[in-house]
Amino acid sequence: MSKVRNGVLALSLACASAMILIAAANAEQAKEQAKHPGLQLLRDKCFQCHTDSMWRDARQDARWWEGALYRMVGRGGIWTTEEIKLMADYLGTDFGPNAKPPEPAK
Ligand code: HEC
Repeated sequence: MSKVRNGVLALSLACASAMILIAAANAEQAKEQAKHPGLQLLRDKCFQCHTDSMWRDARQDARWWEGALYRMVGRGGIWTTEEIKLMADYLGTDFGPNAKPPEPAK
């Protein structure tokens, strides 16, 4: 094989593996998003003021979370009712009364 052909081969291999990596990352992201739309919202919106250490240990139902989110609105969070509902719904599931206890801090 000529040097040029080898080069072309190496290049297309590199492209192919890059594409596989990107596809895997997208699939990972899609899985995360599919988990609950409120989770993505939460990531976008809570961390501008504090980390999840503020609420990670809480185990409450969606109604309590909705109340907590309205407290955040009082503190400056600007969100729609729809966003608040989605986030409260997510929190009430993954951080609900029946959720497993928080993992010990590392
Ligand atoms: C505009 C700023 C801001 C944003 C955005 C924000 N918070 Fe807060 N949050 C605060 C402040 C200020 C406190 C009080 C901190 C303290 O007591 O030291 C707080 C405290 C809390 C507390 C504990 C006290 C309470 O009132 O229950 C929870 C739970 C909480 N935040 C949840 C959230 C969640 C969930 C989000 C994302 C949806 C969020 N926060 C986004 C400002 C914010």
